[in-house]
Amino acid sequence: MNPATPLTQNPLREGISNRLEPEPCTLVIFGATGDLTHRKLIPALYNLAAEGALPPAINIIGFARREKTTEEFRKELQNSARKFSRTPLSDDLWKSFASSIIYHQSSFDDLDGYKNLAHVIKEADQQHGTRGNCLFYLAVAPDQFPVILSNLRESGLSKAVEGSWSRVIVEKPFGTDLKSAQELNSLVNEVFPERDTYRIDHYLGKETAQNIMVMRFANSIFESLWNSNHIDHVQITAVEPLGVEGRAGYYDKSGAMRDMVQNHLLQLLTLTAMEPPTSLGADAIRDEKVKVLRSLRPLKGDDVFKHVVRAQYKEGLINGQPVPGYRDADGVPKDSTTETYVALQVNIDNWRWAGVPFFIRTAKRVPKGGSEIAITFKAVPRVLFNQNEESLEQNVLVIRIQPDEGISLRMSAKRPGSSLRIEQVKMDFHYGTSFGKATPEAYERLLLDAMSGDATLFARRDEVEEAWAFVDGIEDAWKTRSDDLTFHSAGSWGPAEATALAARHGVIWRRI
Ligand code: BG6
Repeated sequence: MNPATPLTQNPLREGISNRLEPEPCTLVIFGATGDLTHRKLIPALYNLAAEGALPPAINIIGFARREKTTEEFRKELQNSARKFSRTPLSDDLWKSFASSIIYHQSSFDDLDGYKNLAHVIKEADQQHGTRGNCLFYLAVAPDQFPVILSNLRESGLSKAVEGSWSRVIVEKPFGTDLKSAQELNSLVNEVFPERDTYRIDHYLGKETAQNIMVMRFANSIFESLWNSNHIDHVQITAVEPLGVEGRAGYYDKSGAMRDMVQNHLLQLLTLTAMEPPTSLGADAIRDEKVKVLRSLRPLKGDDVFKHVVRAQYKEGLINGQPVPGYRDADGVPKDSTTETYVALQVNIDNWRWAGVPFFIRTAKRVPKGGSEIAITFKAVPRVLFNQNEESLEQNVLVIRIQPDEGISLRMSAKRPGSSLRIEQVKMDFHYGTSFGKATPEAYERLLLDAMSGDATLFARRDEVEEAWAFVDGIEDAWKTRSDDLTFHSAGSWGPAEATALAARHGVIWRRI
């Protein structure tokens, strides 16, 4: 894998990755003055504009309650884009990009605001030729979904005119348990059919997450080893040094299990464990992912306390700086029992994975951030080089989702010299050096896909519900007692119980 430069470019691959073109459209963002719009959506759209990747015609309409003019709105967005864009802001480019942005003030429950919006859309459509296509982005808290969806229907906005389309993008949290997710899904699908519903899981838009399938199914060397005959265990990790960062209101009701495991981590698990799909179509891929979720061995009752560790961080040091404990964060109740750390062992009861434990871990306030999937292969037989008391290290294939996106393979090699010493070496592929360009932000890819009508990287209704069905088993058991909640210092890698959970299988959690 080194030297790490792409050796050839396969035109078919280009063809596959660009199989759908983003179509001219009006993007309406509900919650336009919120954090997500400022930090993620507008910077992503700006970067797409900078790369000439946006559709040939686009209108971006920000819908929010606060009074302000379009000029003021554009100025605020420019300040945020300057702060959060992955490429530096060019004033000229910003000017032309911002000319497509309009602010529309209305409260979410005022039907007239939607009727007026219909006029604004029509006018902008006629002016810029967006062909009547509309993409509605619900960048708001879920309790606002019902009123927005019902007003989109009442105002006729959700119904596309002949020859155009109308789609909705829904942000997580998508429910808080199976029942609420089913209700939310029914509500959304009463207004938008499933084929026009795009549920965001931003982990699916991350470049390396997309590369999992390419790595598995565009190379012949991995797939034949990708099963219980050769794989010892899998570790899937997503951890960060940050705390709740002003989101206590949401986070304290959610906790790490609902915030990270139900969506991002189970999505990574499905990509890692799925069977080859019958095609690259969105449904063929999502069918296979759902099968993995259905094969998860349910965790319920006492099993939860054997296989799942939950913890909360106390005060500690991150990068030498003191940080308060979770209960001392703004907005968190002093007696909160919400978990900020989860480690669990899951099993996939299907032919391919029988007997292979998957260890999943997520945490806030650990020393370092990173997300990765590490596949540890079985040990070599205890003959030849592996006869010593101290066994040879196992091969590990690591898919680094972030940072420093890439793939590495750890293997044994002879240290040069006259004596036989075996050491571990790494073959390492880094996106940055191989392709010489920064990887796009997840939201860039996802926005473009929604404009193209490609739902592959969005969670389908049954995926979301299966994931909740699994997580509900754990949450239900947690409700029956709280003495299993343990604590660890901020800046440590987690509680001893998590170490013990992995150790029962002879596994050591990886340092990120
Ligand atoms: C979000 C969670 O979905 O993902 C956050 O709500 C978490 O709590 C974030 O910090 C992590 O995303 P990333 O892309 O920084 O790994």
